[in-house]
Amino acid sequence: MQICRSVSDIRRVVAGLRAGGGRIALVPTMGALHAGHMQLVAEAQGAYDRVIATIFVNPTQFGNPADLERYPRTEARDIAMLDMAGVDAVFIPTVAEIYPAGDETIVETTHLAGVFHGAVRPGHFRGVATVVTKLFNIVGPDGAFFGEKDYQQLAVIRRMVRDLHMPLRIHGVATVREPDGLAMSSRNVRLAPEDRAAAAVLNRALDAAEARAAQGAPAETLAETLAEVVRATIATEPRARLRAVDVVDADFAPAHGPVTGRIGIMVSAEFGEVLLIDQREIGK
Ligand code: PAJ
Repeated sequence: MQICRSVSDIRRVVAGLRAGGGRIALVPTMGALHAGHMQLVAEAQGAYDRVIATIFVNPTQFGNPADLERYPRTEARDIAMLDMAGVDAVFIPTVAEIYPAGDETIVETTHLAGVFHGAVRPGHFRGVATVVTKLFNIVGPDGAFFGEKDYQQLAVIRRMVRDLHMPLRIHGVATVREPDGLAMSSRNVRLAPEDRAAAAVLNRALDAAEARAAQGAPAETLAETLAEVVRATIATEPRARLRAVDVVDADFAPAHGPVTGRIGIMVSAEFGEVLLIDQREIGK
């Protein structure tokens, strides 16, 4: 596996991979890799000839400097995991490489960045859209893989790619979970043991909402009914501090009124100082 730290290095490696023919997939990450990230890699390898991963803890998507500081960094282990999995190259740039001095250009999905999870994390999705655009422009992949766990992030990226006519395909990958249902996340290692146990309530709340939807509810009130089931389940866990529950339709508009077809339920809650998110899509 080739390890590249500069834009010119990764561009040279990509040119070499392209010369060998075949289609290239990109898997962007912030490192501290776990089985969820590796599932993205595996699906990328199944669908494309070459896979390039990136590891970059992107400062512009963190609202809070302390959160950025505390983000886990395990580069040597990450490189070994990607190498073992057969990834062709990894791009691990510095902040100065991605944001050159005088950098002032941003990419923003003006509406979608500010609603739902974006409303509680101002600037977050602008940082994500900007860095992902830079990574796409640096590598030029044919496709890129993102997790459904970060449901709104996936929607932001799909919209940005559509709106800006970016020439690549975006693939969503189902959430990989721990045995108790907690969605795998690089943040999970920061949970105190009691909070780690309590955090399984997020998945239980989504299970309860899905079960409620399967029972059938009047379409007019389905969204609010499901949000209420999530709130009530989270309330059974005293260590959880609910931040937001949103039910959205296939266009990522708030699902008020009658709901038919696919809807997404997004939940976020704090456990100690750690903000966790989870999602469920129903009616697929
Ligand atoms: P990060 O949190 O490292 O996640 C990298 C990718 O892995 C994202 O697409 C995320 O949705 C996916 N992922 C995380 N946990 C997962 C799980 N349990 N199952 C399946 N996929 C999972 O998301 C980011 O980094 C950044 O915002 C990034 C897109 C790299 C831009 O900086």
